[in-house]
Amino acid sequence: PEPCAWLLGADRAAQPPRRKAAHASHKGSFGDVAVLGGQSGTAATTHMTGAALLAARAALHAGAGRVFVALLGQAGPTVDLLQPELMFRAPDALDLKRQVVVCGCGGGEAVKSVIAKLLSTAARAVLDADALNAIANDTQLQTQLKARHGRAYSTVLTPHPLEAARLLGSTAAAVQADRLAAARELAQRFQCVVALKGSGTVIAAPGRETMVNASGNALLATAGTGDVLAGMLGAYMAGGLEAFEAACGAVFAHGRRADAWASQRPGQALTASALAAL
Ligand code: APR
Ligand code: MG
Repeated sequence: PEPCAWLLGADRAAQPPRRKAAHASHKGSFGDVAVLGGQSGTAATTHMTGAALLAARAALHAGAGRVFVALLGQAGPTVDLLQPELMFRAPDALDLKRQVVVCGCGGGEAVKSVIAKLLSTAARAVLDADALNAIANDTQLQTQLKARHGRAYSTVLTPHPLEAARLLGSTAAAVQADRLAAARELAQRFQCVVALKGSGTVIAAPGRETMVNASGNALLATAGTGDVLAGMLGAYMAGGLEAFEAACGAVFAHGRRADAWASQRPGQALTASALAAL
């Protein structure tokens, strides 16, 4: 019988683009990532700049040539003093045609001010967290998301089970009861690549064999590791990998970092900041 899914191990995971660097490479060779998220300011009830910075740092360490940060809201920082390579821009100053846009990390309600333009314009997008929540609450955005496929735009959704449930109009328990079916249904409904996160992240896309990630462990169950994955994935896409291959490669590498940490530093907690910089 046909297998219902493949185990994603080192043999099936795409390598990060940096590994194939030629001597004459320049920073343009590795592509640009733009992280759009991190709500702050007086109108915000919660301040989540850190989520966007984690994604941006992770993109840089995963090999992106240049990483831009566009924070949503008024009161955010204009530099990351621990990662001064990151370049801060206003959201409307991003180049949505050329940059891989990672949207939603810590975005809060403010995502609603940018998501429609992003869906209609960004050629390559990773949609996480509050970008997914905004889409779940708005049928017009759902129509726009699905239309991206017909325009040859590439899109990866990275929901955790509750975000997946909101998109499906279901519950996290129902998603967890059949993770393969939930990931495939999302991929089919929105014509996207989907990485349904959690122990054994499921990667699905229309017309592709479904993959179940074999790397990773419970050290990843800490705030911010999802933002790190979104940034890594952006870097893999910016380096030229096709969306499904990038998703498989980034998900596997993200988990393997946590596995290496477990064997090298037994008993020690892993932070998202450390994960981003491994
Ligand atoms: N085994 C393997 N991988 C795991 C495990 C586990 N037991 N637990 C978590 N992970 C991985 C997931 O696969 C995913 O890649 O860690 C990452 C967690 O990502 P998210 O669930 O998006 O979590 P994150 O956004 O970093 O932080 C939690 O999400 O719901 C919001 O407000 C909530 O602040 C909270 C935030
Ligand atoms: Mg998350």
